[in-house]
Amino acid sequence: MDTKLLFQDAAGFATPLLAVLAVDIAIGKDADPLIALLTTSDAITEAAAAVIASGEFKGTLGEQVLLHAPNGLKAERLLIVGLGKAKTLSVDEVRKGAGAAVRYAKPRGLRQVAIAFPEDHALSDEHLENLPCTLLCRALVEGAIIAEPDWDTYKSDREDCEIDGLTVISPESEDSTTREIQAGFDEGRIIAESQNFARSLVNEPGNVLTPTELGKRAAAMCSEMGLKCEVHSTAKLEELKMGAFAAVAKGSAQPPALVVMTYEPKLAKGKSLPENAPVLGLVGKGITFDTGGISLKSADGMEKMKYDMAGAAAMIGAMRAIAQLKPAVKVIGIVCSAENMPSGTAYKPGDVITAMSGKTIEVLNTDAEGRMVLADGLHYAKTLGCTHLINAATLTGACVVALGMINAGIFSNDDATYEQFAKGTRISGEKFWRLPCTDDYKDQIKSQIADIMNTGGSRWGGATSAAMFLKEFADETPWIHLDIAGCAWNEEAKPWHPKGPSGVAVRSVIEWVKSYSA
Ligand code: BES
Ligand code: ZN
Ligand code: ZN
Repeated sequence: MDTKLLFQDAAGFATPLLAVLAVDIAIGKDADPLIALLTTSDAITEAAAAVIASGEFKGTLGEQVLLHAPNGLKAERLLIVGLGKAKTLSVDEVRKGAGAAVRYAKPRGLRQVAIAFPEDHALSDEHLENLPCTLLCRALVEGAIIAEPDWDTYKSDREDCEIDGLTVISPESEDSTTREIQAGFDEGRIIAESQNFARSLVNEPGNVLTPTELGKRAAAMCSEMGLKCEVHSTAKLEELKMGAFAAVAKGSAQPPALVVMTYEPKLAKGKSLPENAPVLGLVGKGITFDTGGISLKSADGMEKMKYDMAGAAAMIGAMRAIAQLKPAVKVIGIVCSAENMPSGTAYKPGDVITAMSGKTIEVLNTDAEGRMVLADGLHYAKTLGCTHLINAATLTGACVVALGMINAGIFSNDDATYEQFAKGTRISGEKFWRLPCTDDYKDQIKSQIADIMNTGGSRWGGATSAAMFLKEFADETPWIHLDIAGCAWNEEAKPWHPKGPSGVAVRSVIEWVKSYSA
């Protein structure tokens, strides 16, 4: 999809579809909706006047109404998209509204979409707090780009109905405003395309996306984006004594992949980062298929376990964006990829494994494999000099039971690091809910015969048991764990996204990384 930003009057732009965003400015719970368009274009307001006066359009989030041959506009169609109440408007609604416009156009064979930049100053201040125009434009572009993919590449009768072009049209304004809008536009495109890249990896079936293939795709991305990338396999795992990662991998005929992607900021001549500058480690769980291993999962829904590499995909996607956004902070992305299979060479319940850190692990359940591979990934990141760690993983069913599919779980051993991440989620629009991993829970993973065991002794607090296990390997290093098991796959379509891989965590991890930029 080609993206363009124009500064001109949207009414004079010829396009098959022009979308304009609308809010409900009525005050009070039971008040009838009062619709206001987020545009200062009189021509658009007049073209929409009759349908708005009819009361048919309530302006709820994602609601749409289409007008053909709108009077006074060069566009062939005008699509009005609701964003809900003005009072609660945030950039997240703008992201969803832009997405809804794109998803409206797609099945109708419209290949070009234009969206009028949402001018919040079209409303008086009593209705709305001003949102920064950089963030508005960024959200608009993100929403449009992440709404585009339909995950039908494996259908032989698929009809290509890709949107070829997206144009954002903002009225002419002062240079400083223009620059801010342009910055948001550029950033939004980079971030959304990287999120889509992560989703495209998650969409791949396990027979196509083996650990080796995941390594190849990460390496190809890195070479395109100018990142350093190393892809290792069994021999390197042995050399590094990654016993926990290797234990999971050895049940499969597919060799594992350890991917290390490095972003080094290029600073102006003569400038360098201070000695004690942070180095961020992004670690992803890359189980390309999780059968459960010897502790075999039941057949019901097992096919979904191809998405057990969504944490790895999120980190690869984030690295892709970081390479282009160029923050002034060093970032190392680490993917621990394996296939979890039952076989004659598979690790077994009761086995005692020595992790890279030297800690011994009693295996109670081979289906708790994600924490095994991450244990070595997190420790390895520290040996590479990482001062702050974040991992993403489809780690536990228990987290899905606790939080459902709206919030992903977040755990941390450091309040300040958690707060820094949480701040970024207000911009990314992704939802994370903090769950505990204080030392009170330490006994849950205490083993009789080894240092720790890989599951809790009971099923209570399963998401926390997994976090406690990972915390052992982060140790003193500030660390965040994102359990995205419930949010990495959209089970339902919404007006702004299809069913399928969500790409959750990509945007928030990018935001977190940016917050460390010197
Ligand atoms: N990949 C699963 C977690 C998962 C469950 C992801 C549901 C997405 C949806 C993970 O490897 C796993 O199997 N975890 C076990 C842990 C248990 C054995 C302690 C689980 O959650 O049941
Ligand atoms: Zn598992
Ligand atoms: Zn798993």
